[in-house]
Amino acid sequence: MKCEKRIRIAIQKKGRLNTESMSLLEACGIKIRLSKSTLYCHAQNFPLDILFVRDDDIPTLVNSGVCDLGIVGENVLHEFELGLINKKIENKTQVAKSLGFGRCRLSIAIQNHEEYRGIRSLSGIKIATSYPKLLAKFFKKHDLQSESLEISGSVEIAPGLGMAEAICDLVSTGRTLEENNLKEVVEVMRSEAVMIRSISAFESDQQQVFELLLRRIKGVQQARESKYVMFHAPKSALDKINSLLPSNEGQTIVPLCGNEDKVAVHIVTLEAVFWDTLEKLRLAGASSILVLPIEKMLN
Ligand code: PRP
Ligand code: ZN
Repeated sequence: MKCEKRIRIAIQKKGRLNTESMSLLEACGIKIRLSKSTLYCHAQNFPLDILFVRDDDIPTLVNSGVCDLGIVGENVLHEFELGLINKKIENKTQVAKSLGFGRCRLSIAIQNHEEYRGIRSLSGIKIATSYPKLLAKFFKKHDLQSESLEISGSVEIAPGLGMAEAICDLVSTGRTLEENNLKEVVEVMRSEAVMIRSISAFESDQQQVFELLLRRIKGVQQARESKYVMFHAPKSALDKINSLLPSNEGQTIVPLCGNEDKVAVHIVTLEAVFWDTLEKLRLAGASSILVLPIEKMLN
């Protein structure tokens, strides 16, 4: 593609979002050659440049216009936005697309041996966190006194070292809490990865690249969620089957050689297909049911 202007995207250098962000770009057909020390690289077959940074820096890079796009957790984004509000600085960042990965929650956790006596018992205790503004907002909403100790990493070790009585940190699988003898007691917010962009308009070449990227991301998301389902069914059962398994653009009906009563049905469904749906299809008369993954989809 000929393009005067490339798009620059900021991605987490190391961590949970890095792997999934990279695999999303890869699934979009964007080829990126990485070396271990790569902090900045040009995609080989797409006008995209990638900057690898700490996730906490991504909103700042987009807000200041250094990067056009960024992939970041909503938790980091909202913490950044609260900082802007406090300093009365204009927010020039907006969410361009929710990405559906990196799902986690920001939660308050206390030591396993402590008894949890309800949310009011957290008032005034020292809580270690990398998200002091989100925590303060949550405490204010619940009319509690907050006292946070801001730490930028390895927050989970703070209670064990006697630095704080609790932590407020991201929980994904819960392994980090478990390994540090902590238990989750209150959820502050839920989060997932989002693509952010600057509110200022792209130049027209960049806008085209951005739209192409968004279309591919949507295609990847749809393909990941969708399934191609094929089965044989009596013609009389087709209405019933249609209500069990709604299809994207209707069923494709193919005649079956030597069988007047039955047809082969092909459906693209945008919903997850579970075993109990297949069981219902079978009860409705379907047989030889196949469920296939879809690699690419463009609507
Ligand atoms: C978060 C959090 C924990 C871990 C929790 O870190 O700080 O360390 O994930 O995940 P688990 O429940 O699956 O164990 P993250 O990967 O977001 O990195 P960062 O906080 O250093 O940016
Ligand atoms: Zn981080």
